[in-house]
Amino acid sequence: MVERHTRPVPGGRAVYLTERLWELAEGLPVESVPIDSIKAFDEDCWFGGAAVTCRMVARHAALIQKADLSFPVILSADGRLMDGGHRISKAWISGATTIDAVRFVVDPEPDYIEPDPPGVVQNNRQYWEALAPARPGEPIEVLETGRNVLNEHERAAIGDIRGRRVLQLACSVGDEALVFARLGADVTAVDLAPSHLATGRAKAEKLDLTVDFREQDMMSLSEDLTGYDLIFISWGGLCWVPDLDAWTRLVADRLNPGGKLIVSEHHPLWEVLTVADEDRLRITGDYFTPDRQGYADPLKAPQITRTIGTPDIPHQSFVWSIGNLISAVLAAGLTLNSFQEFPVPDMYDGLAGTATRIPATYLLTAIR
Ligand SMILES: C[S@@+](CC[C@H](N)C(=O)[O-])C[C@H]1O[C@@H](n2cnc3c(N)ncnc32)[C@H](O)[C@@H]1O
Repeated sequence: MVERHTRPVPGGRAVYLTERLWELAEGLPVESVPIDSIKAFDEDCWFGGAAVTCRMVARHAALIQKADLSFPVILSADGRLMDGGHRISKAWISGATTIDAVRFVVDPEPDYIEPDPPGVVQNNRQYWEALAPARPGEPIEVLETGRNVLNEHERAAIGDIRGRRVLQLACSVGDEALVFARLGADVTAVDLAPSHLATGRAKAEKLDLTVDFREQDMMSLSEDLTGYDLIFISWGGLCWVPDLDAWTRLVADRLNPGGKLIVSEHHPLWEVLTVADEDRLRITGDYFTPDRQGYADPLKAPQITRTIGTPDIPHQSFVWSIGNLISAVLAAGLTLNSFQEFPVPDMYDGLAGTATRIPATYLLTAIR
């Protein structure tokens, strides 16, 4: 996992890669700095707001034990910690009140800026944050086996991912990403909503699995998220993409040559059909207009809203038709490898018998 220091800047977050900070800080004069003057020591630098478990603390305790105090910590020009939380902790535990530090006279340029998402995406972030507390995902006991998280078609499409670099987009609480990690992949998992990611991180700690959970808009992935063998999105992920052509170009750009995109989703036909009675469907959406104006059929809204209701926060999702998706994949220069459609009678609850004759889900694979 690449170590980074980030901080808010106008319009986004500045990202500094720790390894580059070490190079830039070489040769700076070492000074002795009071530990109490370093604000980060009293802030949450490690847990991203997650409910902290003993295992999480133990992991950092191990890093604190290993920390090498012969290397000074790195401070920005205004005294903010850029690298060295474990060294400060080690020094403090040993009773020290000061720590060796180097300080930039002028801060270096960041490696890159992660831009703030546009308005529609910011609204969607708030909406998903509001849903997060009610959406814990699969319990740890299920994730310990990995069973039932991926379906048989997904497992077949994914194949052997041992040692492969996998990126999951719109990962939510990370259940699928954790299965990829269990299968031996080197996994990055991206979502907009920090609370979902915090749940994912806590699960990873409990399961002793490594997933690089990153808070990002999947429309503007940071530059270091590249070189993937597999990019995966599923179950109510694609409908949050506001510009399918731009998204598919970005995905193609972040795949290695020969790398695979998998989209495993609700079928757009299902999105616009509502069961009226046991042998009748009503058309309650527009297959040809991606911008969805609310959910005419509440069964098409995120499942959790059926339990806790819909938060009063503006949000915008999209119905991408099969034509939209395949055209975007081809326009991005990917090769369409497979496109499967599946009936799932339970998704047309109330349609007696005939629900096996229409698609409810699909799985697309495309290769760069
Ligand atoms: C229904 S969940 C995703 C499905 C996931 N496969 C699962 O089964 O839990 C939708 C997720 O998309 C995320 N999301 C929405 N817009 C996004 C964006 N622009 N970038 C990244 N994630 C986004 C939400 O925060 C939410 O966690």
